[in-house]
Amino acid sequence: MPVEFKNDAFYICTKNTSYVIKNENGLLVNYYWGKKIPNEDLDYSQWKGYVVWSNNNDVKSWEMPVYGKGDYKSPALELEFADGSRLCELKYVSHRIFDGKPALEGLPSSYCETSDNVSTLEITAEDFLTKTVCKLYYTAFYDYDALTRHAVICNNSDKNIVINRMLSASVDFFDTDFELITLEGAWARERHIERNKLMHGIQTVSSVRGGSSHNKNPFGALVRPYTTENSGEVYALNLVYSGNFELNAELSSYDTLRFQIGLNSFDFKWTLAPGESFTSPECVMVYSNKGLNGMSEIFHRLYRERLCRGKFKNAERPILINNWEATYFNFDEDKLLSLAQKAKDVGIELFVLDDGWFGHRNSDNSSLGDWYVNTEKLPNGLKNLVDKVNGLGLKFGLWFEPEMISPDSDLYRKHPDWCLHIGGRERTEIRQQLILDLSRKEVCDYIIESVSSVLKSANISYVKWDMNRSMTEIGSAAQLPEKQSETAHRYMLGLYRVMEEITSAFPDVLFEGCSGGGGRFDPGILYYMPQIWTSDDTDPIERLYIQYGTSLVYPVSSMGAHVSASPNHQTGRNTSLQMRGDVAMSGNLGYELDLTKMNDRELGQIKDQIAFYKKNRRTFQYGSFYRIADPAKSRFAAWEFVSEDKNEVIAVFYKILTQPNNTQKHFKLVGLDENALYRLDGTDITVSGSILMNAGVIFDEPYGDFVSKMIKFTKT
Ligand code: DGJ
Repeated sequence: MPVEFKNDAFYICTKNTSYVIKNENGLLVNYYWGKKIPNEDLDYSQWKGYVVWSNNNDVKSWEMPVYGKGDYKSPALELEFADGSRLCELKYVSHRIFDGKPALEGLPSSYCETSDNVSTLEITAEDFLTKTVCKLYYTAFYDYDALTRHAVICNNSDKNIVINRMLSASVDFFDTDFELITLEGAWARERHIERNKLMHGIQTVSSVRGGSSHNKNPFGALVRPYTTENSGEVYALNLVYSGNFELNAELSSYDTLRFQIGLNSFDFKWTLAPGESFTSPECVMVYSNKGLNGMSEIFHRLYRERLCRGKFKNAERPILINNWEATYFNFDEDKLLSLAQKAKDVGIELFVLDDGWFGHRNSDNSSLGDWYVNTEKLPNGLKNLVDKVNGLGLKFGLWFEPEMISPDSDLYRKHPDWCLHIGGRERTEIRQQLILDLSRKEVCDYIIESVSSVLKSANISYVKWDMNRSMTEIGSAAQLPEKQSETAHRYMLGLYRVMEEITSAFPDVLFEGCSGGGGRFDPGILYYMPQIWTSDDTDPIERLYIQYGTSLVYPVSSMGAHVSASPNHQTGRNTSLQMRGDVAMSGNLGYELDLTKMNDRELGQIKDQIAFYKKNRRTFQYGSFYRIADPAKSRFAAWEFVSEDKNEVIAVFYKILTQPNNTQKHFKLVGLDENALYRLDGTDITVSGSILMNAGVIFDEPYGDFVSKMIKFTKT
């Protein structure tokens, strides 16, 4: 059983990890998280510190630490009661241990199947004075080596309670020999890895943009200074949420370390009426002592198999052509069909019509919300186009930005109060658009209805769900004044309902999340949509950093990656088709350029790339992925894919900038069968797994900048 209760302690275990909570006279104390240990008494190893003088000591770590009892570190919970007090002393009342895992009300979360070795611990604690109940949930995914946590607050009193702060997980460590890894970025350069020393005080990474954002990611990992890709300890937190979040690492003056993640408490307040409850988003906790690749393997497997849902979660993803960078808004039916024909000729499987097909949208200044076909561009209608594309032998996909409204739209003229706004204040337009107020039921219903009716109108197999701006004037015309600070979270709950209803009504449609590229690349979205457009930046060099960082947490099958034109539209950089292909094949391969303008040699090369990808697609999308060389650390990047049966290995090496008089680079492969012999494809060379992993392979540097090489080994 992954969860055991013994001598007042809760032991929550996976294959290689233990998490221990002690009930110390009613207080739930955080005892241990790390490498698996026996379910034995841990009292001896616990720090005996307690408040001695109000200012010279630290206190024990509660599972939901609060401010006001001598713990001066970052709290996980702050409630405000009707009498104005803010202290909440949660004491153990009861617990339940059961097989399986409950779903979180209205929120995305990991799940289990009946055959899984998964158990959940539910601890009920109460603040006896105010009758507030807090239920803490811990689930152990034994075979996946992952834990999840969330909490539910129930107002059992007869007065309102205000939640000022409620995080999903808070863990304390007695040692502080850690560095903090986070994913930092901005539009077109998302999720670059940052690794920093801890300083005394709190290091926070958070989003206040309404989405999880291009700039930050709801992920953080504490690593030892000596932790590498393949060795050393890692403690990672990832929030299954797509809105405002905060992650804190606090190094106290007493050399203890607190690590937390949850809803961002900045600009957040939630009023709980008597009888109501509030559920925090889920936090996924991963410990590995096999370095960052070890951590990623756990996240990748859990997310592929127990977060993503639907018929595509384990299916090979189609190779697509997207018309965005080929035409932008400037297309008609003939143009699209000639692009589709060329795509079919080279082996592409899905044609995606991007922005500009609806309302009277010819630029980004109108029509969001008016989800009916632009008859000026497509006079024969959408179904006609879809049928013709299908007739060429391609599936058809369509772009939407369902959460948005253009001031120049029929929808806005009819419902000017349906956007997020604050009465009497100017509405800030970003990309000339406003955000629909998804905290309102009728707005969500409109989105469900209007998107569904387009999806029913033609044979649409794929949807790209875009979202192109951050929130401003975060207020709702439908909420009471005291509930305005609930708007951002209510928006997310509305969004999740919309996504749930649409994706479950169209189970045969493959949904790809997008937010101006990778502005909402998080586990919350992956619960509804098994793949996400990784970044609007398709420059292969920039993509090395983006895909390398994204892969820390998110599986390759979740990453959209396209070959685009050279010079690249975002950076102006010239790169070879080979380099672009070798980077895009390291994700869900697509093309996003005008194939009708390419010569036969280039089209031939693309055909070869696609043929190779199709042959190895399972390994690229679902194999084990290992990072080998970090582009941020040298002139090189490298990574590797090992097929599920370990019979095939594809390693890709990239050289960013060249250096004279420096012609060979050495890399060690990872994750092979030590005793097996592997043949280098296209040659008679056979090498043992042990040699490839320990002695390594040599990358003969091709001449020049921005070059790459892909090699494949097959077990003999
Ligand atoms: C942002 C997306 O990331 C792009 O791929 C494209 O779909 C544009 N929006 C269209 O407006």
